[in-house]
Amino acid sequence: MTDLLERLRSAVGDDHVLTEPTDVAAYVVDWTGTHRGRALAVVRPGSTTEVAEVVRACAETRTPLVPQGGNTGLVGGGVPDGSGTAVVLSLGRMRTVRDVDPVAGTLTVDAGVVLADVQAAAAAVDRLFPMSLGSEGSCTIGGNLATNAGGTAVLRYGMTRELVLGLEVVLPDGRVWDGLRGLRKDNTGYDLTQLFVGSEGTLGVITGAVLRIFPATPRHATAWVAVPSVAAAVSLLGIAQEHAGVHLSTFEIANRQALDLVLAHLPGAVDPLEAPSEWYVLVELAGSAADGGLDATLEALLADAVEAGRAMDAAIATGPGRRSALWSLREGISEVQKVEGATLKHDVTLPIADLAAWTDAMGPVLQEVLPGVRPVTYGHVGDGNLHYNLNAPIGRDDDLRAAAGDLTAAIHEAVAAAHGSISAEHGLGRTKAAAAAAYKSDVEVDLMRALKRALDPDGLMNPSVLLTAP
Ligand code: FAD
Ligand code: MLT
Ligand code: ZN
Repeated sequence: MTDLLERLRSAVGDDHVLTEPTDVAAYVVDWTGTHRGRALAVVRPGSTTEVAEVVRACAETRTPLVPQGGNTGLVGGGVPDGSGTAVVLSLGRMRTVRDVDPVAGTLTVDAGVVLADVQAAAAAVDRLFPMSLGSEGSCTIGGNLATNAGGTAVLRYGMTRELVLGLEVVLPDGRVWDGLRGLRKDNTGYDLTQLFVGSEGTLGVITGAVLRIFPATPRHATAWVAVPSVAAAVSLLGIAQEHAGVHLSTFEIANRQALDLVLAHLPGAVDPLEAPSEWYVLVELAGSAADGGLDATLEALLADAVEAGRAMDAAIATGPGRRSALWSLREGISEVQKVEGATLKHDVTLPIADLAAWTDAMGPVLQEVLPGVRPVTYGHVGDGNLHYNLNAPIGRDDDLRAAAGDLTAAIHEAVAAAHGSISAEHGLGRTKAAAAAAYKSDVEVDLMRALKRALDPDGLMNPSVLLTAP
């Protein structure tokens, strides 16, 4: 153990090997506070060469390794277990934007660059990196790639895997795979880049990426819309698609419970509509400087929706300040749920046609399991993705914790029955590895295990994350 620590110190410098409990504390607890582990050390390499030396030292001493970016993951995949045997490898010092080519539409970055800085690097050359998450001020592009993150721009631009062209990865034996190619076309065998996207640190450490950037969309038309039901929200999606076509960039849902928590806990938050509603949609159209008429399109689609009984009222943003106020009602929900108290997260996708019936049926089932439980339902309804999160009955956090297993089982069973997915965008981590395996076929689990064995035969890369121990 002393030998390993000495090797790590000589690889990255004494200051970047943390072992004091106070220094290590922030790296061993996840954002939700439900996963609290211990680490042999936290190592903070500053280059790909240093990452490779750390990984090699861990491989040669059979030491488990947990890659970590911004530690904003919601399924406990970026923190170690309680054994204290693992090294946490933080990419936080690798923050260089290596190259930008606006004509080719590529941006090449270190894995530790924070998502907001990736967006800013694209904006600096009048381009757009569209990925947008509530955590974008702290999550890293390496973590986004490792989790195949989603967010609010998936409707128009796709998940993270659609935004990447090439990767640089340190493999579990310490070799570096340089796949940093920005080619749009490259049919030369298995797609290794995509293999690492969504692998949650279990197949290697992503150290760099070539990302796709897009024409900037400086024009926006944004509305917060009261809708009577989830079914109406889905109809409104169809109306918005017909009117706005490719300009439809965001279509998010939130229930009244979610808005109430934002109004209670987010400083300055104001309900933009007079009459309360059970459900709301945040809809946004985005276009280039040459795209006029977005406001008129938004108004026309809302008028059609009201006439068809699919919307009751809407607040349209009249400027950037109003736009960000409407966005904060949506982006603030995760944070205020935490402030409110114990939360149980469920990140599900369903076929869009079944969303309304599924949501309507779920409420009574959960009330039977835990009377008074509060569904705080919101998310990326345009992608069929609901954050079917639960808060405890008021003042009864312990009851939610006690009923968590039963509530989760009820939701997972209902998702499986509707041919949905129990993890739309957050990944499996430690929270859902076992549950996901139970819903996959033996063939699928065998294939996943075969890939893991082929790349990481000693099982040292993020053990028990994504796949449980065989
Ligand atoms: P971490 O939390 O550090 O790690 C996540 C996983 O990736 C772990 O398994 C870790 O081992 C692995 N990993 C990290 N870096 C690397 C690397 N360089 N190489 C290999 N493996 C690595 N997620 C969404 O998809 N959509 C949302 O809308 C969304 N909203 C959020 C809002 C809030 C307020 C919060 C707190 C989280 C939200 N998330 C969302 C979840 C989270 O931000 C994403 O999963 C994000 O991609 C994690 O990035 P990170 O850098 O924090 O990764
Ligand atoms: C979001 O979309 O805000 C997050 O992915 C949801 C969550 O924190 O549960
Ligand atoms: Zn989300």
